[in-house]
Amino acid sequence: MRTKIVAATLAGALAGLAAPEAAAQGTLNLYCSVQVEWCQAIATNFQRDSGIRVNMTQRGSGETLAAIRAEGQNPRADVWFGGTGDPHLAAAEENLSQAYESANNALLHPWALTQWRQSNQRAIGVYAGAVGFGFNTELLARKGIEPPRCWADLTQARFRGEIQMANPNSSGTAYVIIATLVQLMGEDPAFAFMRQMHPNVNSYTRSGTAPIKAVARGETGVSLSFVHDAVTERNAGFPVSYATPCEGTGYEIGSMSILRGARNLTQARRFYDWALTEPAQRLGFEAGGQLQQPSNRSAPLPPNAPDLSAMRLIEYDFARYGRAAERRRLIERWDREVGALPR
Ligand code: F6P
Repeated sequence: MRTKIVAATLAGALAGLAAPEAAAQGTLNLYCSVQVEWCQAIATNFQRDSGIRVNMTQRGSGETLAAIRAEGQNPRADVWFGGTGDPHLAAAEENLSQAYESANNALLHPWALTQWRQSNQRAIGVYAGAVGFGFNTELLARKGIEPPRCWADLTQARFRGEIQMANPNSSGTAYVIIATLVQLMGEDPAFAFMRQMHPNVNSYTRSGTAPIKAVARGETGVSLSFVHDAVTERNAGFPVSYATPCEGTGYEIGSMSILRGARNLTQARRFYDWALTEPAQRLGFEAGGQLQQPSNRSAPLPPNAPDLSAMRLIEYDFARYGRAAERRRLIERWDREVGALPR
């Protein structure tokens, strides 16, 4: 018996010796709203670089905001990495995140810092990407359907049952699309447009990337997506192409926030500083095949990534559409006037 206890103690001590860093550096609880491959890559690489153990949960932007709201002043996570910028702004306004100024702010593009200032230093830009159409070139050619070029095309009968977009309750992508349409067309015409498009939509998915994955698999002809996600599917070998709407389009500033009441604040700040560095920002492409534009000025635009500077982008009003009440109002209107329509 005694030998057993000694052996167990010795084994424990040796195990401790084998991983002294990890034991000493503590834990980080991370909510992550980019694609799971990227989330896993940042968790593994940060853990290796810092010795801090990472517990990661991946969920869409709208779902993560709902979880953070439900957890209130007793958050389960320390940092929220990625996801569209509007719900990060809503979290900041609702006092669910906290201010932080990283020394690495100096490394970032101005648009990443605009997000930081607009959120009272509570959210910062980690990447940017534009909204557009993804489509399956083989499927559309087989059916004799001309790909969409303009928003106005999406209400035409040739796309009946061919379009997928996400549901704005769970997906930040879908909310950016709705806010883009409202800014381009005016609110009532934008909702009229979405009602007219509804017969052409075969599903409003939970995740923002589900529609482009369905396009890649040939389950639907067209998706409303971030165009970087279309290139990811094309790079994976699927017959996918994309277009940015002729009338102009909106974009996201994918963001990061430290949550209010974070139990592991030192670790949270270390992660935040790390996530703004060039090597960390290369991981999106190098480990996850993701093609957003990184916010670190030294991190290169991945090969074949959509170039935002060559697109017709609207002056997306982040201050207005990131406001919690505005976001809630538009989503509730969408639920009533579009989501509830019969199919
Ligand atoms: O990771 C791909 C991506 O398109 C990001 O660019 C974006 O911030 C995120 O997904 C949004 O996901 P969702 O629409 O599910 O919230």
